[in-house]
Formats: sequence, C-alpha cells, structure tokens
Amino acid sequence: MTLQIALLGGEGIGPEVVEATAEVLEHVLGDVDFVRPIHGKPALDAHGDALPEASKQVCRDADAVIFGATQKHCHPVLRFLRWGLVTHANLRPARNRPRLDSPLKNDQAVDLLVVRENLEGEYPGREGELSEFTRRWPELRDNFDREVPREGRFTVRVTTEEGTRRVVATAIDKAKKRRRRATARQTPLVTVVTKANVLRYTDGWFREIAFEMLEEAGMEYEHFFVDDAARRLVEHPWTFDVIVCPNLFGDILSDITAELVGGMGMAPSGCVGVENAYFESVHGSAPDIAGQGVANPLATVLSARMMLDHLGLEDLSDRIDHAVDDLLADGSVLTPDLGGSASTDQVTRALIDRLDD
Ligand code: IPM
Ligand code: MG
Repeated sequence: MTLQIALLGGEGIGPEVVEATAEVLEHVLGDVDFVRPIHGKPALDAHGDALPEASKQVCRDADAVIFGATQKHCHPVLRFLRWGLVTHANLRPARNRPRLDSPLKNDQAVDLLVVRENLEGEYPGREGELSEFTRRWPELRDNFDREVPREGRFTVRVTTEEGTRRVVATAIDKAKKRRRRATARQTPLVTVVTKANVLRYTDGWFREIAFEMLEEAGMEYEHFFVDDAARRLVEHPWTFDVIVCPNLFGDILSDITAELVGGMGMAPSGCVGVENAYFESVHGSAPDIAGQGVANPLATVLSARMMLDHLGLEDLSDRIDHAVDDLLADGSVLTPDLGGSASTDQVTRALIDRLDD
C-alpha cells in the first residue's frame, strides 16, 4: 500500500529541510505519495487562513505529517497539528551520535526518550486577572490554607484522567518496543517526573495513575520530582530510559536532553495520537540562514525516521539511522552548524549514497 505523507515546510529553513527529507524518504520507500497542503503565509494571502480546512483534511487523511519549522505565520499550524490532530504524546529521543559532543565530562552512552504529555497542563494557555478569579471563587485556599491574592494574574494548569492515561500508555508502549542501542541499559525502565510534592492534587494524581498503570503492565519504574530529575539528567543521563511527564516539564527537560547529546540542531521529535501523528525537528526556523541552502537537514531526517518507526517500518528506520551515524562519523560532508562546509543538498546526496551501503 502506498503511504501518503503530508509535507508542511512551514517557514524559514523549514521548507528546505523538509524537501531534503522527502528525497531521503523517497529513496528508502520507493513508492510514496507526498502531498503538500497550502499553509502559512501563502495560505494567509490566498485564503485569509494560515491553515484552510482543505489543508487540515489532507493532514487528517495522510498516514503521517512532516512539519518543518514555525516562525510567525505557522502558529495556527502547530495548534492544529497538536490539538486538532489530538497528538497526545510528544516523543523526544536523545542519544549520542558520532561527532556530536556532549558537554558532560564523564559522558557515557545516553539513549533515552522523553514522552511529554502534549495537550494539557499549562498549555495552550488559559490566563486571566486574579481579581476576576477570586471574585468567582472566593473560597479557594492554597496548601497552607491561605486565601488567593486578589491582585495579579493566574494561569490554569489542567490534568485529566484521560490525558494522563493516554500519555502513560504511550510511554509504556514505547518502553516495551524501543530498540536501545547506545546505552548500557537493555531492559525497560520508566521514570515518572512530576512536582507532586507541591502540586499534590494534580501531579500527585498523575503519579498515582502512572504507578497504577506501570504496576499493571509489569514494568520497572521510578519517580523523581522535576527539579531532581533535571539534576540527575545532567549528572548521569545514561541511567534513564523512558521519561514520562506533564507538558511543561517535558518541554523543559527535552531541551536539556537535546543539549546533552549534541544540541537542539540535531534533535528530532514526533507527536503521536491515536489516529494521527506528525513529526518535526525540535529546532526553529533559523531565519538567519534561510534560503541559503546550508541548513542541516538531519534533525528532520531523524524525525522522519521516527515516523517510519511509528508506521511499523522499523527496518527502513534503522537504515536511515545507521546512514546518519555513518555520515557523522565520516565527517567529510557536513553542514556549517556541524563544522563542515557542505550544502543541504550535498548532505542529502551523501546520506542517500550511504543508504545503499
Ligand atoms: C516545543 C516548543 C513549543 C512548545 C513552543 C514553540 C510553543 O518549545 O515544541 O518544545 O512549548 O511546545
Ligand atoms: Mg520547547
């Protein structure tokens, strides 16, 4: 069956790295149907909408979506790809690769996966005035039994049972299926990260639900408060396997884990739901180098490789993974961000050459 992949380049270097990735995918898949729904500025100019309904439908109908990067016109695109497609788990792997230096002195092989709850918590932002809040809910007390201040602003942080269960279920599934490569740890371990010591009612519940599910699944698991988890990630990241946590903690921890293994420029990600999934690099749109043909396509290529995993094409995913490692180890064809002088196109060609080795 021919896979249908929707490509949304987004802005800045997004379109360049997405097209490079499409070439790599075409090479490994042979038969693939790429669709390029109109979005961003062109869609805004033509239809007054950064992501018209027809483009949304193309994304829903596709087997998966690859997204480039967003600058200013694509926020509605991100909103749709997360909340519209209900992609509840944001998968952010971090593992050592050749030539990508770790800032850690005692570095050992790191191969971990952050599974970030993607739709709840502080996102997508529900804020207001405390005067209004306390007028409507005068009896709310904090954990020290004090009133809420009447002046200032507040945000609502949401935890639901459904949201918690589905992200923990994804973490358990990934922990069972993950092909661990670089690390000493070969058996699955799920680390739950919360702030349950302060947010007892919400994060305490998140932890309770996670423990119950992990127990039931017969998994090895542990829990750290988020500050402690951040510290441990810097102290000995190689002891982690799969981390599952609420949205904002995952946002922050995944920047740390990316930096531990070579930086945001090489970090891939995938947001998966029950019906839909989209894949994008963690890096931004890099407007300073956009259009120059020197953007590093590897983070998007590695995101596409996660897409192949998601679609059950593990062999093809492994081929790309090995080819990327070979290319890095060889080091002669790299983009300027990795210390080379090659163009996006040259890197793409070199990678495709290696896919056949
Ligand atoms: C990320 C980004 C986004 C987030 C921003 C751009 C809204 O930081 O994907 O990690 O906070 O989720
Ligand atoms: Mg982030």
